Amino acid sequence: MDILFCTSEAYPLIKTGGLADVSGSLPKALHALGHDVRIVLPAYPEVLQHSAGLTTVAELTLVGATEPVEILAGHLAGSEVGLYLVNSPAHFRRPGNPYLQDDGSDWPDNAERFALFARAIVALALGQADRDWKPELVHCNDWQTGLVPALLSLHRERPATLFSIHNLSYQGLFPAETFRTLRLPESLWSIDGVEFHGQLSFIKGGIACADHISTVSPTYAKEICTSAFGYGLEGLLQYRSNDLIGILNGMDSDTWNPATDLFIERTYNVHHLQHKLANKLALQRDHGLPRGAQPLLLGYIGRLVEQKGVDLMLAILDALFRHPVQLVVLGSGEQALEQQLEAAAQRYPHQLAVHTGYDERLAHRIEAGADALLMPSRYEPCGLNQMYSLAYGTVPIVHRTGGLADTVVDLNERSARDYSATGFCFDDTTPEAVLEACERALSYFQASRIDWWKLVITGMKKDFSWPASAARYLDLYRAMCGIENDVEAPPQLDSIAHGTALLDTLTPESRIH
Ligand code: ADP
Ligand code: GLC
Repeated sequence: MDILFCTSEAYPLIKTGGLADVSGSLPKALHALGHDVRIVLPAYPEVLQHSAGLTTVAELTLVGATEPVEILAGHLAGSEVGLYLVNSPAHFRRPGNPYLQDDGSDWPDNAERFALFARAIVALALGQADRDWKPELVHCNDWQTGLVPALLSLHRERPATLFSIHNLSYQGLFPAETFRTLRLPESLWSIDGVEFHGQLSFIKGGIACADHISTVSPTYAKEICTSAFGYGLEGLLQYRSNDLIGILNGMDSDTWNPATDLFIERTYNVHHLQHKLANKLALQRDHGLPRGAQPLLLGYIGRLVEQKGVDLMLAILDALFRHPVQLVVLGSGEQALEQQLEAAAQRYPHQLAVHTGYDERLAHRIEAGADALLMPSRYEPCGLNQMYSLAYGTVPIVHRTGGLADTVVDLNERSARDYSATGFCFDDTTPEAVLEACERALSYFQASRIDWWKLVITGMKKDFSWPASAARYLDLYRAMCGIENDVEAPPQLDSIAHGTALLDTLTPESRIH
């Protein structure tokens, strides 16, 4: 199939979070299955810097741009996946975060920037930009591409449109006047279009107008149809529930593989787990924590925002550090949270290390070195770090929500007995519940290392790589385009059904004490 994959970030060109990981790896997995997938991205300076051999395929005159907008073509770095870049310096040639200014506030012209992006994508989708290529299906992701299905819905001859929700809380909401200044077609200003309680909503354009909607885990697909997670869009999502599907993200196992990871102290796999300890000792050394196998070393990696429950983590530190527990935090985001974490690190220099900023290498080293990874997210559409943790033998401690609920099997009497457990889950977003889960993990860690390693190995044996999820996307694409499916996708990973008894896989080397 010919698929245009529209995204505002893609690893390794530009990344602020998991959307980039997915945008860099799902197209590669689809390409590996024999399809012509091309990514379209804004030509941010970082992206131009990391892309070689670009050619200009079109110069478009678009509403919202005073200069002609170039469409550049090339390949996603390190792959054969096609890449289009929308080059409008007035909109995209500015350093730093693609959505935010240095002070953390939105770029004031985000509506204009992503409306222009959408108009360029529409030209590509209709075969008006690259005259040699016309997609059968356009796959849009998050609010930055929400206007694409809305604009395309006005065309009789057009490709099918899929809109994927990675995070419903970021909606691209702007005042009604912006609708006029963007000179969007009048017919889109309606309850079936981009109007949302008197405001312009980019994400609503995607949800209301795309042929199909997907989100990044089955549980989140259910959650967003409720008022607790729907941000006012639950009614529309319920209405469209026949066209809504949850497909669990995969992980890029080339980038996230402890057996080949060049960032980590010592590579390892499920048969040579003793080498994981070298990574723990290195992490402790690098962050000034007392070295040793004894304390439970927790990790946290992520954006420092309310969604991720960082405040819950802060609230338990005093109680947590009465135990032999250490914690390494890597994150960036809200200044107040960064400051509170740094202040706590001063109080607990032997137990808490905080690194604020974005650091790809350190993210890998935490995944490899920590015993357990804490994810107290209030909501988590999918979450990738818990999957990386499972692959790295680092036990996830997670709130049972969204993709976390779909990927981590809580340790309880039954799951311990049948070796299906992979981590620790809690249900309430309260400091007490987070603390209780951490203490459960600590007791299990202290009680028997053999049992702990069984838990680790069960997680490492799980397969969250892309092929299964990419096959599900293909099934959906084909159904949307009326193409018969010749190959059936494997059933979706089910957190319970996929637990495997792994006692017999415990090799002598992996029995570490
Ligand atoms: P989200 O997309 O909501 O931020 P995900 O778990 O889906 O959450 O993906 C987050 C991605 O960003 C992961 O690849 C994670 O390793 C990475 N990441 C988050 N914060 C940092 C950071 N400060 N430094 C390096 N990588 C980070
Ligand atoms: C979003 C979500 C995260 C998800 C990622 C990729 O940023 O917050 O849960 O894993 O998108 O789909």
